[in-house]
Amino acid sequence: MIILGLETSCDETAAGLVRRSENGAGEILSGSLRSQIAEHMPFGGVVPEIAARAHVTILDGLIQDALQQASITLDNVDAIAATAGPGLLGGLLVGVITGKTLASVLGKPYLAINHLEAHALTVRLTDRIEFPYLMLLVSGGHTQILSIEGVGVYKRLATTIDDALGEAFDKVAKLLGLGFPGGPEVEKWAARGNASRFSLPRPMKGRAEPHFSFSGLKTAVRQQAHELQPLNDQDIADLCASFQLAASEAVADRLKRALDLFCEAHPRTEPVVAIAGGVAANRALSAALQKIVTEKNGTLIVPPPQLCTDNGIMIAWAGAERMAVGVLNDEMPIARARWPLDANAEPVPFAGVKA
Ligand code: KG4
Ligand code: ZN
Repeated sequence: MIILGLETSCDETAAGLVRRSENGAGEILSGSLRSQIAEHMPFGGVVPEIAARAHVTILDGLIQDALQQASITLDNVDAIAATAGPGLLGGLLVGVITGKTLASVLGKPYLAINHLEAHALTVRLTDRIEFPYLMLLVSGGHTQILSIEGVGVYKRLATTIDDALGEAFDKVAKLLGLGFPGGPEVEKWAARGNASRFSLPRPMKGRAEPHFSFSGLKTAVRQQAHELQPLNDQDIADLCASFQLAASEAVADRLKRALDLFCEAHPRTEPVVAIAGGVAANRALSAALQKIVTEKNGTLIVPPPQLCTDNGIMIAWAGAERMAVGVLNDEMPIARARWPLDANAEPVPFAGVKA
């Protein structure tokens, strides 16, 4: 079975092709992607209108490119999958309408894919992981821990009550006058800094529920920066290092709590933890997480960076997994700006739209 996947939920336009065999093994045939970072850079963040227009301009070319790379034509494709949420509505509509149109012209199934589900299932493509496993999703828009128990069976164990982790990195970078996106900049500066110069909070540390919070940490960095004005390069490096350490230790503490809950629910000796989202590229974070997972005799899986960040391959793979269990999601509204993976998750006080 060959599936074409389309991703247009934020600022990356992407198309990918995967093949799934009867035995569940996946193979990446091709992936084609264009980031819009340069277009959004002057505004210091993603501008929805610019994003939607850029998707319209480029998506058909990327589909053609993916087909060419895989040396196949649309006739060889068995189904078309597109991200239908959550994300920016204008962009989502571009992918969904392209996907539905292709499916209807070709007379093949269309699959509406939840973007978070695609992140969550990627490790089954890269590492053939069996259910259940724990998933930490840390991107610019989301910070969640989910228990992944089957295709379509997701239990949200934790979410952020304010900023997403990538958003906190981006805001800290912005307040220190560094570039966009901020995460890689903060990591670069942190490498030259002293992480113990400033004592910053580890938000939510020790709480029974494994939820996250980052806005207080960002405010603490802002206050330190304010007291030090004018900042020299060493101050910036030390602030980046201290922030990165505090954020990594806070996430590690929350993951530890979620792992306890996961192991209680699934008494297995060797839990598997997968990470996804752009912040998974941060080495200080993955080192802190590795320590926690090793203490629990578990395995930490970090897919290659190009599959941790947004891409079309993960959408195609989620489509393949859904085709295999026969749940196409095609009765849902055309696109959803909000689409929680676990509809039954208990509301978290103050969590708002990021839940
Ligand atoms: O998953 P992603 O590419 O896009 C979405 O948000 O959907 O994640 C982007 C986020 C940005 O906030 C970016 O600053 C952050 O991931 N990021 C990093 C690093 N690389 C990207 N944060 C910390 N350290 C990094 N090395
Ligand atoms: Zn994403």
